[in-house]
Amino acid sequence: MKNVTELPMNAKSAYKPVRKAVFPVAGMGTRFLPATKVMPKEMLPLVDRPLIQHAFEEAREAGIEEFIFVTGRSKEMLEEHFDYQPELEQALEARGKHDMLRKVRTSEMPEGKLYLTRQARALGLGHAIWCARKLVGNEPFAIMLPDDVVLSRRGCLSQMVEAYNETGGNLVAVMDVPRAETNKYGILDVEKDDGKIAVIKGLVEKPAPEEAPSTLSIIGRYILQPEIFEKLAAFEKGAGGEIQLTDAMAKLLGSQPFHGLRFEGRRYDCGSRLGFIEANIAFSMRDPEIGAQVQNIVRRFADELANSEEVPLEARR
Ligand code: G1P
Repeated sequence: MKNVTELPMNAKSAYKPVRKAVFPVAGMGTRFLPATKVMPKEMLPLVDRPLIQHAFEEAREAGIEEFIFVTGRSKEMLEEHFDYQPELEQALEARGKHDMLRKVRTSEMPEGKLYLTRQARALGLGHAIWCARKLVGNEPFAIMLPDDVVLSRRGCLSQMVEAYNETGGNLVAVMDVPRAETNKYGILDVEKDDGKIAVIKGLVEKPAPEEAPSTLSIIGRYILQPEIFEKLAAFEKGAGGEIQLTDAMAKLLGSQPFHGLRFEGRRYDCGSRLGFIEANIAFSMRDPEIGAQVQNIVRRFADELANSEEVPLEARR
């Protein structure tokens, strides 16, 4: 057998497995005010589970063993959500509500596997990730942005871990966006693209449509090597005056492999009201318990819209 050090950088065994995931959850959620005045935006429910639980379950399915939350002021509810709640479980047990008990247990963190660090100032995503450096240590790790939710048969991160086992290095989940929207995303400059995996030669955070090197954008799932922390430590400000993760990744290009995975599935931007509503419709239409009824509701709305000239917008206010 070859010595690992003789293997090329992208060979399977040259990289350690991904065991840890970082969840940046310190953000304020201003786009959902007043709903997020007291409640963290990551607690907004997508069907029956808060956004943070969707991200947690996706990470757990992908084999993640340690869950690192980069949290901040007024975010305690996020940790508590994953606690074991003996009174609740006993009450459900006593009433014979076994289905509900099973659901509650899906939100329990494996013992001793939740790690917390804090981002005291909102200096950007790159800064939030840098705050987790000690907890990540010297091994590759995943990043999950809970605002981005992917509806797919297999979890997006599982698909990434499988691809990472082939590519090694650094891997981001990517999708094509309309050119007019490149200024909302990290955008790839692509060297080679086989339709599934893109080899990245450049990365730009939120370029104007006319300057974007492509329309292939990063969504909130990353697998990165720990060397990223050395680049983040420079604390350089980029787009929007923030310390950007994309800029630190761009500095690693050339020294480590960088790939984009066109994942199978559909991504919803639950950081915006429209994306959040769309995700709730898409997920609930597929819910095993209420899916059929939701589909009927959607059909009824579609009929109503088709048959009426106008829907009054101010009905509720
Ligand atoms: C962040 C990243 C951006 C990425 C996006 C995906 O931006 O900086 O590169 O494309 O997440 O959702 P944000 O949405 O936090 O502004």
